[in-house]
Amino acid sequence: MNKNEAMRILSSIRYPGYSKSLTDFKVVKSIEINGNTVEVLLNLGSADSNKRQIIFDEIKAKFEEMGVKAKISTVQEKGSKVEQKHYVQNAKKRIAILSAKGGVGKSTFSVSLAIALKKRGHSVGVFDADMHGPDLPRMLGVREQANVNKEKNKIIPNEKDGIFSMSLGYVVDPETPVIWKGAMVSKAIVELLQFTDWPEMDYFVVDLPPGTGDAALTIKQNMDVDAAVIITTPNRLAIADAMRAVGFFEQVGIKITGFVENMGYFICDKCGSKSYPFGKSDPKYIEKELGVPSLGVVPFDPRVEEAADYGNLMSVIDTEFFNAMDSIAEKIEKI
Ligand SMILES: Nc1ncnc2c1ncn2[C@@H]1O[C@H](COP(=O)(O)OP(=O)(O)OP(=O)(O)O)[C@@H](O)[C@H]1O
Ligand SMILES: [Mg+2]
Repeated sequence: MNKNEAMRILSSIRYPGYSKSLTDFKVVKSIEINGNTVEVLLNLGSADSNKRQIIFDEIKAKFEEMGVKAKISTVQEKGSKVEQKHYVQNAKKRIAILSAKGGVGKSTFSVSLAIALKKRGHSVGVFDADMHGPDLPRMLGVREQANVNKEKNKIIPNEKDGIFSMSLGYVVDPETPVIWKGAMVSKAIVELLQFTDWPEMDYFVVDLPPGTGDAALTIKQNMDVDAAVIITTPNRLAIADAMRAVGFFEQVGIKITGFVENMGYFICDKCGSKSYPFGKSDPKYIEKELGVPSLGVVPFDPRVEEAADYGNLMSVIDTEFFNAMDSIAEKIEKI
């Protein structure tokens, strides 16, 4: 393939939501051909993360049809370069918990990881980066609103069982539905990170909302992410989504440390037999597909669901679920 052919392919891809193409909008800055790989540099200006994802997917698919691998990178518009911020320096390690899909267990995992790390003797904080449906207060069993330190002009994180936490749910009435636009979500995340009076912590766990969205980008732009863990369920469809997510997060500069298969198996509490209600876990296959290492497989346990609902995950600490969490925490310690 040569540059002209590559350009022709790009000119056949429509800019999402418009009838004009990527080349009409002059978003293609340069093309390099390297053997069987085409390197495309785009200037996507202020396009939101959904549009970016659609564009990346389309480009990759179109080149793949021609047997060519597309490597895509983006430049920031001149003058709009986002300055990298470094909030939450009080934590030694900052860990982002991500997924492509909703409901795969990110929040349950985030709280359980915090508990497992705490049990291993570390000081831990958890941050709820979900501005649409903050679940951490319920899962942590923290009902109180956060207090404010007026002298410092900072919000004091809540603390339960020695785990510090902050959530939008602590500063707005949890019963009031909040309608946010993209930019407001980012602003709310930044303000909660910035204006919380974080104590010294060994680990700071960030529970992200589902999808390859603005929240992840905001987190990346405002704190140093030391580790990023993708949560998936073992079924093929979820893994295909996780694969896309790995690509997207890497595009925005979040290097994925590893993945965890949640609800990887179920042990019958009566007969002890193992079954696979969410698909049979196959970490080796996923490692190959995702190109990132497995950090562990976590079982489905109805007691966990109930405890999460009651904000009482500490009560199921003696389960195989927490054994699995403990070995993941051990791996996280080595990062
Ligand atoms: N290993 C598990 N065993 C039993 N129940 C689980 C397990 N993991 C998660 N759940 C349950 O599944 C539901 C969804 O989990 P959770 O809210 O943690 O997912 P999520 O990925 O954070 O969702 P969202 O994308 O909406 O933020 C919850 O009811 C939770 O208690
Ligand atoms: Mg969640």
